[in-house]
Order: sequence, then structure tokens, then C-alpha cells
Amino acid sequence: MSARFLHRMRLAAERPAAPVPGGVVVRPYAPDRDPTRIPAVFAAAFGAPRWPGDWDRFPEFDPHGVFVAETLATGEAIGFVICFRRAGFGYVSVLGVVPGWRRRGVACALLRSAVGYLRSLGLVEVEVDAFTDADPAVSLYRAFGFEVLRTYEDPQSDPDAAAATRSPGGAGPDGPQVA
Ligand SMILES: CC(C)(COP(=O)(O)OP(=O)(O)OC[C@H]1O[C@@H](n2cnc3c(N)ncnc32)[C@H](O)[C@@H]1OP(=O)(O)O)[C@@H](O)C(=O)NCCC(=O)NCCS
Repeated sequence: MSARFLHRMRLAAERPAAPVPGGVVVRPYAPDRDPTRIPAVFAAAFGAPRWPGDWDRFPEFDPHGVFVAETLATGEAIGFVICFRRAGFGYVSVLGVVPGWRRRGVACALLRSAVGYLRSLGLVEVEVDAFTDADPAVSLYRAFGFEVLRTYEDPQSDPDAAAATRSPGGAGPDGPQVA
């Protein structure tokens, strides 16, 4: 069993904004319904167990940094992003889109909302962690304009645990540079 590695990526050059895909709307966090919807979307997107009911009780949680993508037709939640302020930079913690809605620009639209919010807080740098073996995520962040700052061993590494089971507040502490 081998350790997993993360790329710490930083937004370098934002690409011109593409429109939100047709039939989809990106909405701010709705405290009356999103606390239960987001764990369901997480489970579908990551193929992982749902987060527990207290998933949002972590110190950095900022409800204004959570956005949900919904279908216009039914209001079904199909994706979400969670971001917040870290020490001196904005951090995108978790982003997921359900399989049936992928490759239509939903994740890009969510990221754009997250980056816009972090910028509105006056944060210049925006960073994210992506597992080095998570090709769709790394490709997405690169396509959006992120570049790899460093690569480090996952400090929470449990070789038996899926990446996706980590909590939204636990991901991405800085680690030693390995590449
Ligand atoms: C990664 C993920 C969020 C992408 O969502 P998405 O809505 O399909 O992404 P988008 O449609 O906005 O993709 C934008 C660009 O990212 C890149 N990209 C996205 N998915 C990709 C894939 N599977 N393979 C290669 N490139 C990909 C492409 O450049 C794509 O543009 P294109 O479709 O015009 O080629 C989604 O696959 C997912 O939820 N995966 C599981 C959870 C995860 O890994 N989350 C990220 C880490 S927290």
C-alpha cells in the first residue's frame, strides 16, 4: 500500500468566463435545504459514503463560500463547491458534479462562483489541492487556469481510505514539497 500525493495548485491566469451551461443555475447556499442535499451530491459525485449530518461544523466553514448547481427544470442539485478563507489565501476545498451532468461546464461554473466570492473577500491567491492521480480534477483545475505549486504526500494518508471520505474542513494542510 502506497501513500497518495496531492498537488497544491494556485490560480495563475483566469481564463475568460464561459456561460453557465444551459438548463443549469448556480445558486448560493440555502441553509434550509443544502445541509442535507450536499452530502447526497457528494456521495453521488465521489462514489463515497455520505458525509455525516454535522459535515458543516468545522472552524473554517463559511456558508457564503458554498454554491450549488441545480437543474432549472426540476431544481435537482447536481453539483456543489465549498470554499473558504485560509491563512492569507482563498481555498477551494471540495467540488463535485454528479456523473450524469459532467463535461458540460458545471464544475467550471461552480469554480467561477467560488473564485468570485474569494476575490470579493479581497483574497488575491486562490488555491486548491488535487490528488495527483485524480485526472479529471487536475485537468479541470488546469483548464480553469490553476498551476501546480508543489506536490506533497497526503498528511492524512490512510491507504485504505478513499480520498472522498475526508471531511470538507480537513483537506489540504500544507505539506512538504516532494516534486
Ligand atoms: C472533476 C469534476 C468536478 C469535473 O466536473 P465537470 O462538470 O465534468 O467539469 P467541466 O465540465 O466544468 O469541465 C471543464 C474542463 O475540465 C476538464 N475536465 C473535466 N473532466 C475531465 C475528465 N474526466 N477528463 C479530462 N478532462 C476533464 C476539461 O478540460 C473540461 O473541458 P472540456 O469538457 O471542454 O474538455 C467531476 O468529474 C467530479 O465531480 N469528479 C469527482 C469528484 C472530484 O474529483 N472533485 C474534484 C476534487 S475535490
